Amino acid sequence: MSPSGRTVDFVVAANRLPVDRVVHPDGSTEWRTSPGGLVTAMESVMTGRDGVWVGWAGEPGEAPEPFETETGLQLHPVPLDANEIRDYYEGFSNDTLWPIYHDVIVEPTFHRRWWATYRTVNERFAHAVADVAAEGATVWVHDYQLQLVPALLRDLRPDLRIGWFNHIPFPPVELFAQLPWRKHVLRGLLGADFLGFQRTTDAGNFVRACRQLLGATSKGDVVAWEGTDDDHPGASPRLVRAAAVPISIDFAGLEALARTPEVRARAKEIRASLGDPDVVLLGVDRLDYTKGIRHRLRAISELLEDGDIGPPEATFVQVATPSRERVAAYRQLRAQIEGMVGRINGDFSHIGDAAVHYLHQSYPRDEMAAMFQAADIMLVTPLRDGMNLVAKEYVTCRHDLGGALVLSEFTGAAQELRQAYSCNPHDIIGLKQTILRAIRDSPSERRRRMRALRRRVRTNDVQTWAQRYLRALEFAPDKPPRR
Ligand code: ADP
Ligand code: G6P
Repeated sequence: MSPSGRTVDFVVAANRLPVDRVVHPDGSTEWRTSPGGLVTAMESVMTGRDGVWVGWAGEPGEAPEPFETETGLQLHPVPLDANEIRDYYEGFSNDTLWPIYHDVIVEPTFHRRWWATYRTVNERFAHAVADVAAEGATVWVHDYQLQLVPALLRDLRPDLRIGWFNHIPFPPVELFAQLPWRKHVLRGLLGADFLGFQRTTDAGNFVRACRQLLGATSKGDVVAWEGTDDDHPGASPRLVRAAAVPISIDFAGLEALARTPEVRARAKEIRASLGDPDVVLLGVDRLDYTKGIRHRLRAISELLEDGDIGPPEATFVQVATPSRERVAAYRQLRAQIEGMVGRINGDFSHIGDAAVHYLHQSYPRDEMAAMFQAADIMLVTPLRDGMNLVAKEYVTCRHDLGGALVLSEFTGAAQELRQAYSCNPHDIIGLKQTILRAIRDSPSERRRRMRALRRRVRTNDVQTWAQRYLRALEFAPDKPPRR
C-alpha cells in the first residue's frame, strides 16, 4: 500500500530508499539522504510523480511504516535483518555481483548461503511491489541487487508492465559465466518487458549471455527465450528488449542551485580556505575500488615529485564518501588510500599548505555544488563505472564555462562527454600528461570544451532519460501498448 493505503499505477523498486534511517546512540533517529548515483537520479524522477518507492531504509530490523517525505515522495520500506544485510547486501550484492560486474577489479566471493539469502530478499521485494501495484501498473525495478524481481513479480502479477534498469555495467559473458547462479540471474531478468542498460556494450553483453548460457536466440536487441532450457522447465516463451538508455542528472535544478549567490560565495570561500591557489584539483567519489582513486593519487604524487605541481600554487582535494565499510575489500581500500594520502602529505605539504586535502564525509548538495565550482580540474578516473554522475554534475555547475574535466575512458559518461580530457587511468604517464594538459590549455580551449559538455548534459538530462526509458517500456515487444 502507499502511505494513503491505496494501490498505485507507478512503482519504483530499488534496494535503497532515497533516505536512510540513522539511529543515534541516545536512541533518537534521523533520516539522511542515501549515498550514490541511483538515488540522485531517481529522486529527481520521482519528485512530483504519483508513485511509490519500495526499498530498504538502511538499518537492520523492522521496517518503518510506509510514509511520505517532506518533499512528497511516497516510501514503502522493506525490512532486512542483520543476517540479510550481511548475506544479501554486503555479501552477494557487493562482494559477489559488484566485482564481477566491474571487470573483476577485486576477486569475487561465492557463497551458497549468500545466494539463498539474495533469493529470499528478492522474493520479499517482489511481494512488496505486488502489494502496492494497482491492476496493470508500471513497475520500474533498479539495479543488480534486484535481478530476480522481474520474473518473481511476473509469476505473482502477470498484469504488470515490468522494466529493469542496470545502473552499473553488465559484464562480458566470459566474466559473467564465473557466477555459479548465472542462469538463474538471466531468467530472473527475462521476466521483465524491457531491460535498460547504460551503454550499448552492456546491452550486447546481456544478449550474448542469454544466447550462450540459456540457448536463447536474438534479433537485433530483442531476446527470444523459450521459457525453458536444459535445467529449467516451466515459464512461457518471452520476447524481451535489451537496449541502452544512458542515465543523467537534473541539469536545470542543479544549475539553478549552482547559480545562487550563496553557492557562488561559498565557492570563493572554499578557494580562500585553501589559500587561493592557482589550481584546485578535485576528486569526488564513494570510497570504492572501481573509482581509480589509488591511480589518481599515484599520478598526483608523481606530479608533485616531478615538481610539475605543488603547494601553495596547486592543491588536490579528495572527497571520499564512506561506503560499504563492513566489506573487507572496502576496508582495505580505505586503509591503502589513507596511507597514500598520509605519505604524500608527509613528503610534499608545507605548514599551512597541504598537498592533499582528504575528506571522508558526506555533504549537502549545495556544498557539493560549491566544491565543483571551486575546482579548476575535476579528476574522474574510474577503472570501470556504469555512468558516473559526478562528471555530469561538475560540468552542470560550471555555468561560468571555467574548469576542465579529466575523464576516464572506462566510464559510461565517456561515451557522451567526448570533449572531456580523456584518460586511461592505468597509464600513469598518460594520466599525468592529461592532467597537465588540462591545467595548461588556454582558457579559450577549456571554454570550448566546457560549452560542448554542458550542451550534452543539458539536452540529455534525467527527465529525458526517464521519458525515453518509460516509452521503451510502453512499447515493449511482448506487451501491446495501452492506448
Ligand atoms: P556512484 O553511484 O557509484 O556512487 P556516481 O558518480 O554516479 O557514482 O554518483 C554519486 C552521487 O553521489 C553523485 O550524485 C554525487 O554528487 C554524490 N556524492 C558523492 N560523494 C558525495 C559526498 N561526499 N557527499 C554528498 N554527495 C556525494
Ligand atoms: C551505486 C549503485 C547503487 C547503490 C549506490 C550506493 O550507485 O548502482 O545501487 O545504491 O552505488 O551504494 P550502497 O551500497 O551504499 O547502496
